[in-house]
Amino acid sequence: MTRTRQLHLGAFMRPVSLHTGAWRFPGAWPDANFNFAHIKRLAQTLEAARFDAFFMADHLAVLNMPVQALRRSHTATSFEPFTLLSALAAVTEKIGLVATASTTFDAPYHVARRFASLDHLSGGRAGWNLVTTSNPDAALNFGLEEHMEHDDRYRRAREFFDVVTGLWDSWDDDAFVRDVESGDYFDPAKLHVLAHRGEHLSVRGPLNIARPPQGWPVVVQAGSSEAGRQLAAQTAEAVFTAQPNLEAGKRFYADVKAQLEPLGRARDHLKILPGAFVVVGDSLDEAREKRALLDTFVHYDSGIASLSIALGHDASGFDPDGPLPEIPESNASQSARQRIVDWAREEGLTVRQLAQRVGGYSGLQMVGTAKSIADEMEQWLVEEGSDGFNIMFPFLPQGLDDFTAKVVPELQRRGIFRREYTGSTLREHLGLPRPANRFFPAR
Ligand SMILES: Cc1cc2nc3c(=O)[nH]c(=O)nc-3n(C[C@H](O)[C@H](O)[C@H](O)COP(=O)(O)O)c2cc1C
Repeated sequence: MTRTRQLHLGAFMRPVSLHTGAWRFPGAWPDANFNFAHIKRLAQTLEAARFDAFFMADHLAVLNMPVQALRRSHTATSFEPFTLLSALAAVTEKIGLVATASTTFDAPYHVARRFASLDHLSGGRAGWNLVTTSNPDAALNFGLEEHMEHDDRYRRAREFFDVVTGLWDSWDDDAFVRDVESGDYFDPAKLHVLAHRGEHLSVRGPLNIARPPQGWPVVVQAGSSEAGRQLAAQTAEAVFTAQPNLEAGKRFYADVKAQLEPLGRARDHLKILPGAFVVVGDSLDEAREKRALLDTFVHYDSGIASLSIALGHDASGFDPDGPLPEIPESNASQSARQRIVDWAREEGLTVRQLAQRVGGYSGLQMVGTAKSIADEMEQWLVEEGSDGFNIMFPFLPQGLDDFTAKVVPELQRRGIFRREYTGSTLREHLGLPRPANRFFPAR
């Protein structure tokens, strides 16, 4: 019997909402980014709804926005991922815990240890969002004047991945015999010293932690350049991606999946999860009103700066309460620009409303009823636009509660989302195999 393909759902939780106006929405928790009681409650609600994973993005600098925009945004600051996820591991049982760690600014021995620890602490629920860090300001926080060049970052990332996974394989799964009789705590024949010397890294090993319960924590990637996609195809088991619509999503899906077979990897062993910003209402009008109300909390200064960037044209002189004027061609992304022009025309938005929407969140969005959102998600799944989504909630807690209470049951009713967890590790949730140990093949 073939099982209907299932959606995989992650929750994008750093910061708790990506929408810059979220903390001002009526009933929202303005301090949620730094309030553990709130974050715990959100994680437990996501687990009760059977989400695959709680995902913490991370940045190694305050985001590089003009201070007039920064001062109004809750998105520029949040907890350090491992500290938070370790605390969440103790108050959840099943949900995956994905942390971001940088291959440019971190050391592989640190990264291997932290993920191995989180995997043990959580009983096999850790995932590593491997990023090369694109924000140049991060360099300034690590004693560097300049950011490493893009292709070098990706070459280092590839080597970094080999070292980290090599360190995770330092011990055979049954190396720790703990033989009270003989007094042997571990069997030295089941220990491998990596002794890595490469272009960017030199690491002796072994790791001072037993092999993680999942073998390797799940490796996730979010790069979008050619080098980023290549690294994803070679190394990642899940890809987070920003896709503006289904057509673009299908192209990305086909491209990345096609790169797997020549590498000897199964299509199914890499899950593609675009980010989706969801606003749920009891009617389409109510959902649109919520989105429109949310956007009013984006300050005009921040909004107009974002709109100018997206249009590739200075919009600060436009009449805020007039329609969007004709704009000359520019170097900005054509598809992003067209989407914004279409919004303005189709919905009759003023420049102010448009600026506030773009300044709030302008990626893929699903605004509607539980049924219409489930329809969209099902279409993405059936037409191979994705294997699921990384959900972004518009405001907390209500936006998350609406999704878990209304959309999730609709997806379950259609048989495209689990009603119960069938495993207890993140690999099991995502349908991924446990990697063999490269130094100690299964006997
Ligand atoms: C959904 C998503 C999540 C991301 N999370 C992070 C993050 O937490 N930290 C980070 O430094 N970069 C993050 N990025 C940025 C990517 O890692 C990458 O730098 C960016 O997409 C540019 O890719 P490129 O360098 O391949 O062009 C994220 C990107 C996406 C699409």
